[in-house]
Amino acid sequence: GVDIGKLRAQSAAITLDPGFTSTGACESKICFIDGEKGILRYRGYPIEQLAEKSDFVEVAWLLLYGELPNADQLKKFRGQLTYHSMIHEDMKKFFEGFPNNAHPMAILSAMVASLSTYYPESETEEHHDENIARLIAKVRTLATYAYKKSIGQPLTYPQNKLRYAENFLHMMFAVPCEEYTVNPIMAKALNMLLILHADHEQNCSTSTVRMVGSSRANIFASISAGICALWGPLHGGANQAVLEMLEMIENDGGDYKKWVQKAKDKDDGFRLMGFGHRVYKNFDPRATILRKMCEEVLAELHIDDPLLQIAENLEKVALEDEYFVSRKLYPNVDFYSGILYRAMGIPTNMFTVMFSIGRLPGWLAHWKELRDEDSRIYRPRQVYTGATERDYVPMENR
Ligand code: ACO
Repeated sequence: GVDIGKLRAQSAAITLDPGFTSTGACESKICFIDGEKGILRYRGYPIEQLAEKSDFVEVAWLLLYGELPNADQLKKFRGQLTYHSMIHEDMKKFFEGFPNNAHPMAILSAMVASLSTYYPESETEEHHDENIARLIAKVRTLATYAYKKSIGQPLTYPQNKLRYAENFLHMMFAVPCEEYTVNPIMAKALNMLLILHADHEQNCSTSTVRMVGSSRANIFASISAGICALWGPLHGGANQAVLEMLEMIENDGGDYKKWVQKAKDKDDGFRLMGFGHRVYKNFDPRATILRKMCEEVLAELHIDDPLLQIAENLEKVALEDEYFVSRKLYPNVDFYSGILYRAMGIPTNMFTVMFSIGRLPGWLAHWKELRDEDSRIYRPRQVYTGATERDYVPMENR
């Protein structure tokens, strides 16, 4: 219990906390992290158990509604996701307007914001749950359409008989001229990846969704803002940056020590992508699961990817280095996820889109929690460091 009344009364005092290292913006019941011990739980359930035993749609329900769904609730939710999986035919025309090399994150955020033009009733409370299902269903379709557009292939419609992860893989990889059967190993791996990304309390994109939602902006606008925040290389964009870094190291002859040295040089500006975390000062539990999963899935798919070896060697060299040890910089969720996406045939520029699909239930759960609480508008303060008062200078005197 935080005494909100007391906090409001103290509003004259401003605490300066750049980057919000130790400022809580809200109370939340959704996600628990202990960064020192490397613990992550959704609604009290350890991430390790959810990754092993659950599936993404069930986890989405859990995050949104606080409990594991019973059989009827889950069936109904799956039905809603199937029902909403198509996008309005007119929206297909939007894809034609983007250049072929457009980044799919730009397309995704634009498309999600445009959904509000098709569902303007979204402003009313009674439609929130429907819009939540709509978004989870449609983001997957929009993401695959962005990809199909970028490679010049016809769009593949969703299939009602397929479950969430299977349907995504089908829309990504099926082509009209060939039979396509979803590989169950890939579907299982994708489910796990999405679960691991589904929430992470007040990270940059989730805080953005809450910030935008706090102004009572509609759900599509709020989620579109979250997608933009996730795009940056210090956040979700890191998964793309990790793979590009591993490829660079491979092409450079695999001299790990050189790259670790480079990451320590502050003037260089290079960081080991996929390393370090604001909250985890220990192993990111998601990275531990992902590393094991990478080894298993690649073996099951009979893929021998040299980048896995490079990643494991780089991790070893970095974790033996005093710079990384003293700053408690460990691999984060992005370090191994790209190798798995690559094994599934997902191109590097789609990695952050995959993160968005995974994080969506978390964003929505936070948006819902914020709205259900009827929270105040988010409005941080600042410490002004600019010029003191001065008189306007006419143009001829400047
Ligand atoms: N490589 C080299 N040095 C690093 C790295 C890194 N990856 N990460 C942090 N450091 C250093 C910083 O230079 C700083 O050193 P200093 O104390 O000598 O000045 C110290 O470690 C602390 O780093 P900050 O940037 O202050 O930590 P912050 O909490 O602000 O940033 C972040 C966390 C953004 C994740 C950072 O570690 C980083 O840039 N990592 C690489 C990008 C990345 O992997 N992002 C994904 C994050 S997880 C996610 O969004 C899903």
